[in-house]
Amino acid sequence: MTLPASTTVSPRSPADTLARCRALVEPALRERITRLHPWPAEMAGYAFGWCDIGGAPRTGTSGKGLRQALAVLCAEAAGAPGGIAVDGAVAVELVHTFSLLHDDIMDGDETRRERPAVWKAYGTGPAVLAGDALFALAFEVLATAPGPHGAAAVRRLSRDLRDVVDGQSEDLASESRPWTGPEAVDVHAYLRMAEHKTGALLGCAAALGALLAGAPEGTVHALSTAGRELGVAFQAVDDVLGLWGDPAVTGKPVHGDLRRGKKTLPVLAALTAGTPASARLAELLTAVRPPGAAGDAVIRRAAGLVAEAGGRESALAEARRRLDLAREALHSVPLAPGPLAELLTLLPFVTGRLG
Ligand code: IPE
Ligand code: MG
Ligand code: MG
Repeated sequence: MTLPASTTVSPRSPADTLARCRALVEPALRERITRLHPWPAEMAGYAFGWCDIGGAPRTGTSGKGLRQALAVLCAEAAGAPGGIAVDGAVAVELVHTFSLLHDDIMDGDETRRERPAVWKAYGTGPAVLAGDALFALAFEVLATAPGPHGAAAVRRLSRDLRDVVDGQSEDLASESRPWTGPEAVDVHAYLRMAEHKTGALLGCAAALGALLAGAPEGTVHALSTAGRELGVAFQAVDDVLGLWGDPAVTGKPVHGDLRRGKKTLPVLAALTAGTPASARLAELLTAVRPPGAAGDAVIRRAAGLVAEAGGRESALAEARRRLDLAREALHSVPLAPGPLAELLTLLPFVTGRLG
C-alpha cells in the first residue's frame, strides 16, 4: 500500500464518524437479522434498539456502534474502502450483542441502556436462545464473506472469543473471591481480565477490518493492540460509572458491581493504596458475609471510602494510560492519515463518558 506523504487531516467529529460507519454497516446488519426465526429476530431488534417489545419499530438505536466503526476505520486506515469491512463489522456487532444478552443474565442486571434487559423483557430461556442465534449468525456472516479472507476472519473471531470467555470466566469467578489476603484478585489480574473480557472484542473489530482489507500482519497486530488497549480503558471507565455514574445516563443500576462483590478496578486500587481509607474499606467489605449480601448503607459507605482512598482517580489514570498505549500502537505502523485521524478522535470520546 502506498500512502500519500501528507493528507489533510479529517475534521470529522466522533459523532459524525460513528454515524458514517453506522450508515455503512446497519443495512447489512438489519438484513442479516431478518433471516433469523422471527422470535430471536424480534429479540435481536429489541436489543439493537430498533423495536419495542412486540416488534413495533422505534426510532433510534442502542449503543454507540463503536465496534462496527473500528472495523470500518481500520479497513480504511489500511488503505481499502470501508465497505470491505462490512461483514467483519456485522459479525462483531452480532457477537457483542450476543455477549450482552448472556452477560445480563449472568450478572442479574435487569436493565440495559435504560430499558429492561432482554431476559427481563422476554424471559431467560428466550434471551439465551436469541444470544445463540446472534452468535451462530456472526460466524455464518464471516464464513460466507466474499473474497479471500473469510477463513482468516473466522479464525480471528474464534481466537478472540476464546479470550472473551476467559475474561468473562475470571470476572464471574471474582465475585466469590475475597477482597483481601492471598486469594484476593490483584490489579494485575484485573487488567488481564479486562483486556480479555472487553478488549478482545474491540481488538477483534479492528483486526477484522484490517484483515478483510488485506493489510500486512504487522498492521493487523498494531490495530488489534490499539483496540485491546482501548477496551481496558473503556472497562476502567465503565467500572467508575458503575460506582458513581448517574443511572439515568448509564442505563444501569448504580453500585450493582459492588453489591455483587465484583472485583472492579476502583475498588481494587483503593484496597491496595495503603491509605487509612483503604484499611477501613477492607474491614467494611470483608465483614460482609456472604460477599454479595451488603445492604444499601454499607455499599454507599464503601463507595465513599473507595473515592477517599483514591480508587476513582487511580482507575481514571489507568484509563488514560491505556489510551496512550492505544495511540502508540496506532502510530507504530503506516496508516492512511484521514482514517487515522478519525480513530484518534474516537479514542477519548469512548472513555469520556464521565462528563
Ligand atoms: C460485559 O462486561 C463483557 C461481556 C459481555 C463479555 P460487564 O458485565 O462488565 O459489562 P456491562 O457493565 O454489563 O455492560
Ligand atoms: Mg454486565
Ligand atoms: Mg459481566
